[in-house]
Amino acid sequence: MTNYQELKHLAERLMSNNKGLLAMDESTGTCDKRFGALGIPQTEEYRRKYRQLIVTTPDLEESISGAILFEESLHQLTDDGRSFLDILQQKDIIPGIKVDQGTVPLSFFPEETITEGLDGLSKRMATYYQMGLRFAKWRAVIHIDAVLPTKTCIAANAFTLARYAAICQEAGIVPIVEPEVLMDGTHTLQRCAVVTQDVLKEVFNALYEQKVYLEGMILKPNMVLPGLHCLDQVNAEVVAHETISCFLKVVPAAIGGIAFLSGGQSPTLASERLNMMHLRYGAIMPWPLTFSFSRAIQQPALEIWKGEDNNIAAAQKALAYRAACNRAARMAEYNPTL
Ligand code: 13P
Repeated sequence: MTNYQELKHLAERLMSNNKGLLAMDESTGTCDKRFGALGIPQTEEYRRKYRQLIVTTPDLEESISGAILFEESLHQLTDDGRSFLDILQQKDIIPGIKVDQGTVPLSFFPEETITEGLDGLSKRMATYYQMGLRFAKWRAVIHIDAVLPTKTCIAANAFTLARYAAICQEAGIVPIVEPEVLMDGTHTLQRCAVVTQDVLKEVFNALYEQKVYLEGMILKPNMVLPGLHCLDQVNAEVVAHETISCFLKVVPAAIGGIAFLSGGQSPTLASERLNMMHLRYGAIMPWPLTFSFSRAIQQPALEIWKGEDNNIAAAQKALAYRAACNRAARMAEYNPTL
């Protein structure tokens, strides 16, 4: 029997005290790319060292309510033999898990992708629950160009996201539903707004169809932004207005909350934009609105660490700082000169 109360309570805990989520679930390929760019060895041992640095960061729990892990981290230990899961739980950071298995080209739509990982998912979920994991993440990816995305791609990804969310809830795990409209490209802010709205509409239709309990799920969307290479860039005020207007039209008030991905925005821009949403629209938003960043929290710390033990303390400081900036943004109190 699905325990709806427990799901709702978990979603509330993830969104509580103005905290947010830390995504530390980069796949091995993504980690390799980020390590490679900084000359850090691309090995399992260095991924373990790096994630040890993250989970042992002092005061991380002041700003972070939940951490999304990659499968590999579930069994990893610190130098002194403690499991990452135990450390997070001791800090009262709820551990979550990325359960999708990445994207592949969508059959007959070679420019677009579908996310894989549904086969055997309910069995995996039961194991994750037993291990103490209480929320999960699945990322669908939507590309924008002159003709994309297609309706087929949006529908296929929406169906898959809803199927994943239903499987999570059946197992007592809160689903984070992540339909990411990428910021790569030259498209305008207006086009991103239209596509994001279409995608979210389709995703929530699919969630209704599959009886997903909205109070027990969290949406992880992109902000509405112009493409990275669009000539017409806009300020935080415009991003906040377009993003919140879009969500007010298509995101039900009942959901457990919204937690943004950062998608390649700089750490300061991501904080500034989240801050502006709270400053201007905090009083009228029907959902708790927070962050679930990976790059916008981790990147400065990774650049300081560079794989060197001597840099661990400074990197941890940078990590805790970015997390704290985003908690401040959630309270409309972020100041880049902080
Ligand atoms: P970014 O914040 O770096 O976009 O990562 C968030 C995430 O979890 C991607 O799936």
